[in-house]
Parts: sequence; structure tokens; C-alpha cells
Amino acid sequence: MSKKLRLTALGAALAVGLVGCGGEGAGSGGAGTGDAAPEDLSIGVAMPTETSERWIADGTNVKEQLETAGYTVDLQYAVDDIPTQSQQVDQMITQGADALIVAAIDGTALSSQLQAAADAGIPVISYDRLIRDTENVDFYVSFDNYKVGVAQGTALLVGLGLLNKDGSPGTATGPFNVELFAGSLDDNNAGFFFDGAVDTLQPFIDKGQLVVKSGQTGIEQAAILRWQQETAQRRMEDLLTGSYNDGSRVDGVLSPYDGISRGIITALQNAGYGPTLTSANPMPVVTGQDAEIASVKLIADGVQSSTVFKDTRLLAEQAVAAAEAFLEGNEPEANDTETYDNGVKVVPSYLLEIQTVYADDIQPVLVDSGYWTADEVASGQAG
Ligand code: GAL
Repeated sequence: MSKKLRLTALGAALAVGLVGCGGEGAGSGGAGTGDAAPEDLSIGVAMPTETSERWIADGTNVKEQLETAGYTVDLQYAVDDIPTQSQQVDQMITQGADALIVAAIDGTALSSQLQAAADAGIPVISYDRLIRDTENVDFYVSFDNYKVGVAQGTALLVGLGLLNKDGSPGTATGPFNVELFAGSLDDNNAGFFFDGAVDTLQPFIDKGQLVVKSGQTGIEQAAILRWQQETAQRRMEDLLTGSYNDGSRVDGVLSPYDGISRGIITALQNAGYGPTLTSANPMPVVTGQDAEIASVKLIADGVQSSTVFKDTRLLAEQAVAAAEAFLEGNEPEANDTETYDNGVKVVPSYLLEIQTVYADDIQPVLVDSGYWTADEVASGQAG
């Protein structure tokens, strides 16, 4: 039976009286809860880590929006540890969750949990990172992740002066030495970001205007497990000692995420670059993603060149809308039904737009929209 039919069947079963048995026992949750009021429904929200502000913001936004709609929310963070996340999702299911919203640490590690969710008729929404290799994921909310990579590659070119912000050729010609970083290979997004960026940079590499001096151009070489800042710092240190100990300098670094960017910047500062993009020995052009507050301050201070802003408030809204749709017995609205093949099926998706932020964009994009206050930008700390 297809998942949809199974949900419908379960909904019908609940409608003819099982609902009266209460929603507390093991496996009693489930979609197709039909007419149940939000007050009687609970939603499990599994997030990867609290070491990154963006996931704290994501968790808080999803929880608050769901609670405003009346649902009970079980929000869990998994310290970036796969067994911890598996256990948390298991527990959400046994405690009777009616829907799950999951930002996976490893996109392939939750198959048995999600089978249990499917068996209990619980709809699963994959949050920002696509859950792979399972039929039991019902919807995906994210951003256009390939476009994020294109934005990062473009921001590197703009920062170096090879392109203007409007996409026209810049005044610089190079050649520039650059190094490439990628995210965690177990995160489906990492490949999209890297592909988008490399597709954008490749013509400039082919023309000799960009040189990856280390020769480390493959995603396996560029990847940073769990997107860890310290790992990125170590790799940048190794690149500097391995490829730049001959008096040459690094001009730019493609970074897929602000935490990684901060590790890269620390390594560069320790090696005598900067402190800013306009210093005598300028900080290389470093890109980023997520508009984390510590990095927004670095951009305001002229240390980091750019980031890609993904409005987690809107992502939370889409996740909440999808959960509500399922719980009301409807299908959530998708705006992409082709791109995100998880290895078993194409998962219907709702993808949001992104925005590149350079120093000049902090006020109009981040402050005026209320994402960060001017005080937060000045201090580099949330709250
Ligand atoms: C990705 C996400 C990025 C960044 C990264 C590290 O999955 O799309 O925005 O947050 O994880 O947390």
C-alpha cells in the first residue's frame, strides 16, 4: 500500500472511533488524525546541534510557531551525534508523536526509525537537509541548495573583483590563488553547495584567472566532517603550510558555511593575514552561509567578505504549514517535484529563496527585516 493510502486508511480507522482511545500510548500517534484539534496533537522536532546559532534559531522558530498554532512540541537537539538523534526520534515515536520534523545529522542514518514512523502512520517532514535512502519521508522544506552554491561561487568572484555584483565583468584579472572547502559529506546539501560553486568558478579556473594552488579540487578533499569549525581551521593551517610556504599568498577561500569560515579566518589570522580585507597583507576573500551573528559582525568589520542569508523564520513557517496540512489530512503545497531524489524517490519539496549579504547589505537585509538587531551586529552575539 502506498504511504498516502496507508495514511488515508489510518485516518479512516481513527475517524471511526480509535481517536477516543487517546493519543498517549506507544505508536498511537499518526497522521490522518482527521478532526483532532491541534491541542490534542504533538509534533516531534529533531534538530542536529546547538553549537550553531542557525539550528537554535530553527528549533526556536519551529517550536514557537507550532505552539502558537496550538500543538504540543517535543524539540530535541542531538549534539551532532548520530546515535543520539536516532534515539531521540525513536522516543518521539514511542511517545506518540503525530508528526515529525527532522533536520538529520547524517541523511542516511534514520531508516529504521522512519520505518517505525511509517508503520505508525506518522508523516515525516525533512527539514533543510534531505533524508536519503528511504521511502518514508513525505515532504522536504529547504532552500534552493544548488543556487546557494552558485551564490557562494559568485560572491568569491565579486570579492576578488573578477565580477561586479550585477554579474558584469569586474576590473580585476587575476590570477588569484584560491582554496575550496565543502561541508559534511553525509549531509545531502554539501554536494549541491559544492557543485553550484564549482560550476560557477570553473570557467575562471579554465581561463587561469583562478588557481587552486593546493590542487585539492575534489569534494572529498575539500569536505569538513560535521561542518566543524576546528576541523576547517586545521585544514586551512595544513593548506597554508603545505602550499603557501614559498612566499605566495591565498587570495580567496570558498567556504560553504559561516562556522567553517570562522575556522578558516582564524587560521589565516594566525598566519599573519588581515586583520581585514583592506589591511596591508589583506585577509583573503572568504564566503559563508547562514548569516550567523558572529560572522555578520566579521562582515561588518571587513574581515569576512560575504555570507548567504537563508531566512530560518520562513523555513520554519513552511515546515509548520506542511505539518498542519498532513495533520488535517491534506497534502502540503510543493513548489518543486523534480530536484530532490533521495535515492528511493523524488521527495516533493518547498524551496525558499536565498540572498547574498555583503557588508552593505547587513542593514537593509538583516537588520531592517528584524533578523538581527543593530546591537547584535555590533556585539556579534545573539540576544
Ligand atoms: C547545512 C545547511 C547550512 C548549514 C550547514 C551547517 O545542512 O543547509 O545552512 O547550516 O548545514 O550547519
